[in-house]
Amino acid sequence: TRLLVLNGPNLNLLGKREPGIYGQGTLKDAVDLVKETAEEHEAEADAYQSNHEGDLVDAIQQAEGKYDGIIFNPAAYTHTSIALRDAISAVDVPVVEVHISNVHQRESFRQHSMLAPVCKGQVVGLGLIGYRLAALALLESFEGRR
Ligand code: DQA
Repeated sequence: TRLLVLNGPNLNLLGKREPGIYGQGTLKDAVDLVKETAEEHEAEADAYQSNHEGDLVDAIQQAEGKYDGIIFNPAAYTHTSIALRDAISAVDVPVVEVHISNVHQRESFRQHSMLAPVCKGQVVGLGLIGYRLAALALLESFEGRR
């Protein structure tokens, strides 16, 4: 079993980016949480981050046949990207959407996700642990649990 942790724009700056909203944890911390969760289930995880929408589209397309599930924080593209939504719809790989912050407590433009309707589910507002919870949901679903 192989998971892909995919992160969108500005998430490379986690740890120093608006720590009052996103906390002190780094992108590596988020990725490590998924890798540890995968290991606990005898699975593996790879990680990719890009600030470029098309690169994220490519990563989703290339996940087909290679990954069993994607943990995806699309960052600002969540709220705008028809291209990412179409990419998720085009592949037969379950995607769990993750947001570190509680987008529902923030600006109104963050409260709509273009991607949520084509994702398996969402984890929102729980900080970096959301990456672990998303991984756990995917891994347990593969094992036939709820
Ligand atoms: C985010 C929320 C988005 O609205 C924002 O653009 C981000 C991060 C989050 O993880 O809370 O870059 O996806």
